[in-house]
Amino acid sequence: MTSFILAIDQGTTSSRAILFDREGQVVAVAQQEFTQHYPHDGWIEHDPEDIWDTVVATCREVLKKAKITAEEVAGVGITNQRETTIVWDRITGKPVYNAIVWQDRRTSALCEKLRDEGHNQSVQAKTGLLIDPYFSATKLAWILDNVEGTRARADKGELLFGTVDSFLIWRLTGGRHHVTDATNASRTALFNIHEQCWDDDLLSLFDIPASLLPEVKDSSDDFGTTEARWLGAELPIAGVAGDQQAALVGQACFQPGMGKSTYGTGCFMIVNTGETPSLSRNRLLTTIGYRLNGKPTYAMEGSIFVAGATVQWLRDGLNLFADASETEALARQTRSGHSVYLVPAFTGLGAPHWDPKARGAIFGLTRDTGIAEIVAAGLQAVCYQTRDLQHCMNDDMEAPPGNLRVDGGMVKNNWVMQFLADMLNVQVDRPTILETTALGAAYLAGLRLGWYQTLDEIEQLWRCETSFTPSMEETTREQLYQGWLDAVSRVRT
Ligand code: G3P
Repeated sequence: MTSFILAIDQGTTSSRAILFDREGQVVAVAQQEFTQHYPHDGWIEHDPEDIWDTVVATCREVLKKAKITAEEVAGVGITNQRETTIVWDRITGKPVYNAIVWQDRRTSALCEKLRDEGHNQSVQAKTGLLIDPYFSATKLAWILDNVEGTRARADKGELLFGTVDSFLIWRLTGGRHHVTDATNASRTALFNIHEQCWDDDLLSLFDIPASLLPEVKDSSDDFGTTEARWLGAELPIAGVAGDQQAALVGQACFQPGMGKSTYGTGCFMIVNTGETPSLSRNRLLTTIGYRLNGKPTYAMEGSIFVAGATVQWLRDGLNLFADASETEALARQTRSGHSVYLVPAFTGLGAPHWDPKARGAIFGLTRDTGIAEIVAAGLQAVCYQTRDLQHCMNDDMEAPPGNLRVDGGMVKNNWVMQFLADMLNVQVDRPTILETTALGAAYLAGLRLGWYQTLDEIEQLWRCETSFTPSMEETTREQLYQGWLDAVSRVRT
């Protein structure tokens, strides 16, 4: 009897393996962090072998922790940091270069050139994205143009490209499946989200040979079977989605207008917009929320590059505290109405500014500013940025999102959640299961494996743990937010 689904959540700073039961309850978790490489200012890389090793190790560890054998696992779901770009040899599986991470800004000049040449509108019309170093296309072009011999090898059909899901599936299946799912494809800037295929015009714009690209599947699909040597049994890979879309599924946001915000390394607010893609007037992204039975459900997304990473920086860079859990008590010590603003534009600004050259700053320091105020300002920045996104969504959508479902490491902090509800002036709902990203991948696999017949069944499993309702005076809210807008305007380039 198979009673579990194994979800692999390959994130920006760590790989996690989580076992779920049929009710969507967490049975066991294993996690391993891995090294971040910063070879130059604005460059961020991962060693794909670290990604691979930590994924295999955590999968083995989680089975051990739960004291079960691989035979008791019904199948695997994979969710992953999106956009991060890997190119590998189709025979040996050896990557030709490190993974270029989604936050990496090295292709800013190329993007600027393409924008100056007037390609932004056509790229947005086809992909729902903007021309920005964030997406895979220019990262892939950079590898082809800068790693010796790579373009010639690509032209000869010797190489494969994939986002992290694709690389993991290729390895887990012993090189038998070069595939991805529609949500991951929709983040490359090479995929036409209307026609659901790689787009020839985009391939020629970014100078990418089609032979490199994986086959694009539904988010619940047959992605191949793992070789027994990796996880201990041959297991079907049955669900795949980029991590933010997986969280949309894990949060059961299946109706148009339902939205979630995930506070991981970055913060990503995604709202389900239904069967037709609508383009943003406010520089938000249109993306595929999930694709089932060949039918895409679209979503609008606001992407903020730095959220939890601010807390990490305050902890490891400034040594202001030893553990993230201390930030709530620190923030509670601040006097109300302190005027410190921290703009965490460490890797530029994402939506709605899309300013890759902006850099971070702290404003409003006074003689009595202490650790608590700086920490609080770091936490508040995440909420202010969510408000920036909410503002755009309200303007873009006919039926703007109401309550916001939240997840990710930072949402354990009650002070942050209350400030978020106050700043957005909407109810913020925190679910009982915070592992929503992995849960979404497990649900997608479960749909394919027959554990769930419909999305309604999955919706029934969602439970709210705490609702935070706004209680801040309107004038205070607006005053605080104006201060943020002023701080952001000072770091813009
Ligand atoms: O688009 C980047 C995103 O997928 C990364 O997510 O959770 O690793 O911050 P996370």
